[in-house]
Amino acid sequence: MKLIMLGAPGAGKGTQAKMIAEKYSIPHVSTGDIFRANIKNGTELGIEAKKYMDQGQLVPDELTVKILLDRVAQEDCKNGYVLDGFPRTIPQAEVLDNALTELGDKVDFAINVDVPDENIIGRMGGRRACVKCGATYHVVYNAPKTEGVCDACGDKLILRADDEPETVKKRLNVYHEQTQPLIEYYGNKGILKEVDGTVDMKDVFAAICDILG
Ligand code: AP5
Repeated sequence: MKLIMLGAPGAGKGTQAKMIAEKYSIPHVSTGDIFRANIKNGTELGIEAKKYMDQGQLVPDELTVKILLDRVAQEDCKNGYVLDGFPRTIPQAEVLDNALTELGDKVDFAINVDVPDENIIGRMGGRRACVKCGATYHVVYNAPKTEGVCDACGDKLILRADDEPETVKKRLNVYHEQTQPLIEYYGNKGILKEVDGTVDMKDVFAAICDILG
């Protein structure tokens, strides 16, 4: 099963992708997580990506596409994967489609987690992310057992630099300009599924499971 999670920044793509990955035993592939791991390790890719991410801009397609195609070519992706944060532009979607077509393969579903902009800023201000393992929490909706400490690995939780309100507004603009057109793109291919992302995260997950079967 090959899935794409669509939705605005903070819509809950990552939250849902992790649950899907666990239930269906497929890897969760997040380009944002790959970039953040590279930033943490001080790689050349990380240094370059950080310039864009801190501004709320997209990392250029030339950098993003290669790391994604390398990742999904790995052995653990042979039975499928859930993509979170990729594609984010029409050219990225076309590269993925072409790569899969060459393998006689295709994306099964693109799931759009729909959350209006007015809900997003509050959500992002309350998000806390683990610097070590990438787990995410929300101070109200999904609080860790101990404030500021990751349940999964015990490391410290932070407010991501790009979750500051001004940067979130920029990310939303970039989303509407460059990523939202993918809803129509996958709609035209007949694989788009919409879920309401404003309800409790367990109910969002139940709606997704109904789609996936
Ligand atoms: P990325 O890490 O992909 O960020 P994003 O798409 O902006 O998504 P987020 O991780 O911010 O949000 P999410 O939808 O996963 O929400 P979450 O589940 O955490 O990318 C970061 C940056 O990297 C980009 O800005 C760009 O620069 C670069 N990048 C990445 N991929 C790229 C690409 N393909 N091309 C170019 N550049 C790329 O949930 C948010 C919060 O809400 C959490 O606190 C969560 O607990 C809470 N929450 C979730 N669901 C609910 C619910 N139902 N009710 C209440 N709260 C909820």
